[in-house]
Amino acid sequence: MESYLTVAVDIAREAGALLAQLSKRPHEISYKGTFNLVTDADKRSELLIIERLRAHFPQHAIVAEEGGGQQTGSDYTWYVDPLDGTTNFAHGFPVFAVSLGLAYRNEVIAGAVFDPMRDEMFAAERGAGAYLNHRRLHVSKIDQLAESLVATGFPPFMDHQHHDQNMRLYFRFTQLSHGVRRAGSAALDLCSVAAGRFEGFWELKLNPWDKAAGCLIVTEAGGKVTDLAGRPFDLLADPVFASNGLVHEAMCQVFAETLGWRAERS
Ligand code: IPD
Ligand code: CA
Ligand code: CA
Repeated sequence: MESYLTVAVDIAREAGALLAQLSKRPHEISYKGTFNLVTDADKRSELLIIERLRAHFPQHAIVAEEGGGQQTGSDYTWYVDPLDGTTNFAHGFPVFAVSLGLAYRNEVIAGAVFDPMRDEMFAAERGAGAYLNHRRLHVSKIDQLAESLVATGFPPFMDHQHHDQNMRLYFRFTQLSHGVRRAGSAALDLCSVAAGRFEGFWELKLNPWDKAAGCLIVTEAGGKVTDLAGRPFDLLADPVFASNGLVHEAMCQVFAETLGWRAERS
């Protein structure tokens, strides 16, 4: 029998190839809110992924960003982001990915994130390590925030209060580190932590389909994932903070100081 991860990797690659092909053509853009874009490519990629998942695992539940999933009462749920980085895609900025994560009772057990522009397949199974195109992945060994490159994101549906808070964090980390990147794909940001390209990544509001696969890939690469106060990761909660583990406490302190609360010891 094929493993869950093998199936996820194959489907993510197929959907990624579709996105790469569609990226060369004009897009039909519609809006889910004032700044929240959706393109024909999001929908076509989701249709493909759901059709494949249903064929392989008809009993499994599927939660997909564009609403094409299914509830089955299964303990297994696939979290599907058919196009992470839609705004980039719509503007021709080549940073986007497909993200598929499988959770068993809210614990992610397998995940694949595919970047079709760089032909990079990030994949992990719980307890079996993380891989980039079959090469074992490890987080970076940098242990000083002052020597770190970090990243964040701003969701299009974020309210003013969260937006202002994250602007303050962006400002503060820009002063304290090598810089803050905001590349527009949370799934790829997480994989960049796993690959040692970033030391840390946080976002105040992320949906489970944005982060399910990426967070498993970070922990399987030896990193740490919590909320901004250092409390255990919760797939269904909004905030996420992933790091190489070595700068985790220092970054938690900055979150706490900048937002005016006390960081927990993690
Ligand atoms: C978005 C991207 C972005 C992040 C947003 C997400 P989408 O996903 O991951 O980097 O900042 O919070 O909503 O809408 O492009 O799938
Ligand atoms: Ca997303
Ligand atoms: Ca998406």
